[in-house]
Amino acid sequence: MNIIAFNGSLRQGSLTGQVIDTMPEVAPNGMNIETIEIGHLPLYNDDLRVDGKNPAEVTEIAEKLAAADGLIVASPEYNRSFSPAIKNVIDWLSKAPEAPLRGLPTLIATQSPGQLGGIAANNHLRQVLSICGAVFLTGGEIAVGGSAAKVDGGKITDQATRDFIASDLQRLADLIDRS
Ligand code: FNR
Repeated sequence: MNIIAFNGSLRQGSLTGQVIDTMPEVAPNGMNIETIEIGHLPLYNDDLRVDGKNPAEVTEIAEKLAAADGLIVASPEYNRSFSPAIKNVIDWLSKAPEAPLRGLPTLIATQSPGQLGGIAANNHLRQVLSICGAVFLTGGEIAVGGSAAKVDGGKITDQATRDFIASDLQRLADLIDRS
């Protein structure tokens, strides 16, 4: 089971990246999670689409997604929404001929050092991704509050949070199995 992850934070040592990096340690057997870079993509500009084709770096991501079994969209919360890097890749992918988001089992993950775990960004992501046809866990998402206090050595160490992430990854696997 091959899962692609996007990290909406572009900075080194990102807490969002640490949530993603924890996932392989708690994922069900057989689930591989690969983070794909999105920070190098140009800002969406219709003029960069030639003869209906996206730039090569967008096509590369679209093709990897088309071959994947599922997607994890992970983002910090910026001003009660998700990050511009995530909006940019979603906008590009929504114009890809492969329509790679349509029908793709998708898990949304947010974190915040604040108590609410980026839940406003999380809900906003669900709204935006749904128009692109992504399929979600029903009643499930990852939102890690107080994240800065729950990491050590580049991973989440808080056991309850690790269990929470593990259960949502299992549910993502179940959704993929049913699809
Ligand atoms: C934030 N942060 C933030 N946190 C939050 O809970 N709600 C919010 O609306 C915002 N808004 C916000 C705007 C901007 C521009 C920045 C840079 C930050 C704090 C943010 O959640 C925190 O910096 C995260 O740790 C960033 O994620 P990474 O980079 O550690 O993955």
